[in-house]
Amino acid sequence: MERMEIDLSLKLAGVELKNPIIVSASEFSRRGAVIKEISKYGPAAIVTKTIVAQPVPHVRPCYAAIEGGFINCVSGSDISAEQWFKEEIRVAKEGEAKVIASIAGRFLEESLELARKAEEAGADMIEYATACPHLAEIYNAMFPGSMGPPEVHNPEPLAKTLAEIKKVVSIPVIPKFSAIFYIDAVKWAKAAEAAGADAIAAADALGPVLQINIETGQPLLGGPKGSGGLTGSAIKPLVLKMVLDIAENVNIPVIGVGGISKWKDAIEYFMAGARCVGLATAVHVKGPSIIPQILDGIKKFLVEKGYSSLDEIIGLTSRKIKEREIKGKQLITTPKVPAIDAVKCNACGLCQRACIYGAISVEDIARVDPSKCFGCGLCVTICPTKAISLDYYED
Ligand SMILES: Cc1cc2nc3c(=O)[nH]c(=O)nc-3n(C[C@H](O)[C@H](O)[C@H](O)COP(=O)(O)O)c2cc1C
Repeated sequence: MERMEIDLSLKLAGVELKNPIIVSASEFSRRGAVIKEISKYGPAAIVTKTIVAQPVPHVRPCYAAIEGGFINCVSGSDISAEQWFKEEIRVAKEGEAKVIASIAGRFLEESLELARKAEEAGADMIEYATACPHLAEIYNAMFPGSMGPPEVHNPEPLAKTLAEIKKVVSIPVIPKFSAIFYIDAVKWAKAAEAAGADAIAAADALGPVLQINIETGQPLLGGPKGSGGLTGSAIKPLVLKMVLDIAENVNIPVIGVGGISKWKDAIEYFMAGARCVGLATAVHVKGPSIIPQILDGIKKFLVEKGYSSLDEIIGLTSRKIKEREIKGKQLITTPKVPAIDAVKCNACGLCQRACIYGAISVEDIARVDPSKCFGCGLCVTICPTKAISLDYYED
């Protein structure tokens, strides 16, 4: 049977996107020529490396792949704003993806100037970078006293800047939240929406973080104290929660960014309420060919599950959470015993070792002793062959 083709195109803040995949600001968007090249892999849009009025050279070493994630200590673009506006955006626009100019000003006038010039240079949208967790440490080492700690709890300065930017440009303006806003994500989102933001991107890196080389005792990254920002898989659960909370509380679209390296990750973000998804780390560690793989995986998933459009899964998790309330299943305190699929179980014994209640024994297959089972669910998620199932919400 021929597979039904799913149309993933959408409008984000009035801008036509051929699909919901965006390459986020990163070293894969460091120059116009790189953006043009990456656009061939099929993303709908690419966000430039953050354009700043006072570029600084990158500290070295600046990247490290760590267990579960990635750390980096790069700051904004290392080329001048003039170069971006004169040349790089023009070259980027020769590619097949929409170009989102990421900008960050140190004060209001600078932000307005960058925004105006980004629009004049032909950017399709503006992303306004908010807080980078390791930036102050690096800037202050290069230009002593130039930068205070990032604002984490008070969205008012951002709201004021956004409102002013909105007055000087006509293209959509998207604030990009830092993952360090997670505690107050809803407060930040409401302030951004009230200031006229056209969408919200969440999130930039979490940090500052540290990783140590035990052979030398040195931090893995360069910079005064070796601090960096954490990205990749490690931040996905935190950013997913931010995205769900933001999407439930504002009416502007959310772009989910953080730890997407497989199509399944993207699906989780859509279910949490994201309209589009962005990726950076995965492109760095796996290469840009993951972009078409993710797109294909999304389409296959939708077809196999019988969905006719992406819209049907956007915010699905919020609807499921609502159902818990309706069905009185917000707080289930009685255990349910998992079912074992005898065909899928390969008797590897992982579930037995993980069961702290001693409820699982494995001989030819795993078996659960209902009198000991606590119903915690850990065995379900630890089973490598997906032979164990448990659903507290099915009836
Ligand atoms: C090497 C690298 C450079 C980055 N540079 C920027 C940047 O210039 N501006 C920005 O807003 N975010 C920047 N980011 C953050 C990403 O755009 C993204 O928000 C973050 O990495 C989380 O997504 P991920 O887990 O897919 O990487 C950078 C990330 C990495 C890994």
